[in-house]
Amino acid sequence: MQKKTVKDIDVEGKRVLVRVDFNVPLDVNTGAISDDSRIRASLPTINYLVEHKAKVILCSHLGRPKGRVVEELRMAPVAQRLSQLIGLPVSIAPDCVGREVENKVKVLKEGDILFLENVRFHPEEEANDPHFAQELARLADIYVNDAFGTAHRAHASTVGVAKYLPAVAGFLMETELEAMGNLLSAPAHPFACVIGGAKVSDKMGLVQNMLKKLDILLIGGGMVATFLKAQGYEVGHSLVERDKLSLAKELLKEAEEWKVPFLLPIDVVVAKEIKAEAKTKVVSITDISPDSYIVDIGPQTIELFSNELRKCHTIMWNGPMGIYEIPQFAQGTRSLAKLLSAVNATTIIGGGSSAEIVQEMRLANKMTHVSTGGGASLRFLEGATLPGVEILPDKG
Ligand code: 3PG
Repeated sequence: MQKKTVKDIDVEGKRVLVRVDFNVPLDVNTGAISDDSRIRASLPTINYLVEHKAKVILCSHLGRPKGRVVEELRMAPVAQRLSQLIGLPVSIAPDCVGREVENKVKVLKEGDILFLENVRFHPEEEANDPHFAQELARLADIYVNDAFGTAHRAHASTVGVAKYLPAVAGFLMETELEAMGNLLSAPAHPFACVIGGAKVSDKMGLVQNMLKKLDILLIGGGMVATFLKAQGYEVGHSLVERDKLSLAKELLKEAEEWKVPFLLPIDVVVAKEIKAEAKTKVVSITDISPDSYIVDIGPQTIELFSNELRKCHTIMWNGPMGIYEIPQFAQGTRSLAKLLSAVNATTIIGGGSSAEIVQEMRLANKMTHVSTGGGASLRFLEGATLPGVEILPDKG
């Protein structure tokens, strides 16, 4: 069901509280914003509100300050980047609720933008405290949720506040729900999912839900070790989730029942140490020595996966194929990203690290959709209801 959006409500002259997810990655050494795509992704909503003469009040969290003020997690650098990107002044409030903030809101003129301080500096945010939600609501006449990335959290600024104000979705929220929703309800077939990442436990809900919908499943990343172990292969020192071995077997069986080919790597890159200068070797999955780690998928697997993916009309990718943070273990992940940027298919990149990789490789604009949600897109594709979406009224 489609949600009401900013286009379905009159915003002129109104104070509009917009929950965005500007929880952007920060460089560990300098604290600078290392990827501003989440800010860019909400520009259409903010621009629309400015053009339609709303008084725009932006609200976001940054990091996990756990209910106290953390200087490095103030919103000022984010507000400054937004100001550069949008080409308009963005003023900064000293907090996200309270008298001083209310006074700042009072003097806003149509088209002005005010950025509230990190909403997670207050423990009441994550507790979804109703009094705190009312304090946020007091700042505005309308609530807009454009924070798809935080929609899986039932917090005061994503759920609580929507009970006290007319609430609608922003354009990013609308785009995400459409792209992800189509994947679940009407994907063009053949439909493939490529799932990677470290742990089976993180992705089992996703695998289980998608098995019912797809034509082929391709698995890479650290979780390969658990699947291989479950089938009796030697995987050396690679991380095996021992308590998930029976689950891995069950998933393989479920795929068989759904008649979905479940492709695991046929060869892998191994190393004796997980560090940048480690010596690597490509081996068949039958030849992994007890003293090595699986660090990436191998070239034959890349070719196998590529051949299968070229036949597909819809491809969803979530999770790296190897330890991509170390360049010499990133070949599988990078090849996959390149392939997806060039295939003639609908390509949906689940958020989190897969999204970061395609942004970093400057391939994002060659994909059909790159989700801004990590945990949120995972939960959505698992078939879960996202509280931040559920609370928004449906269209019509
Ligand atoms: C994210 O980066 O996935 C969202 O901003 C949510 O952040 P959280 O996992 O700290 O709630």
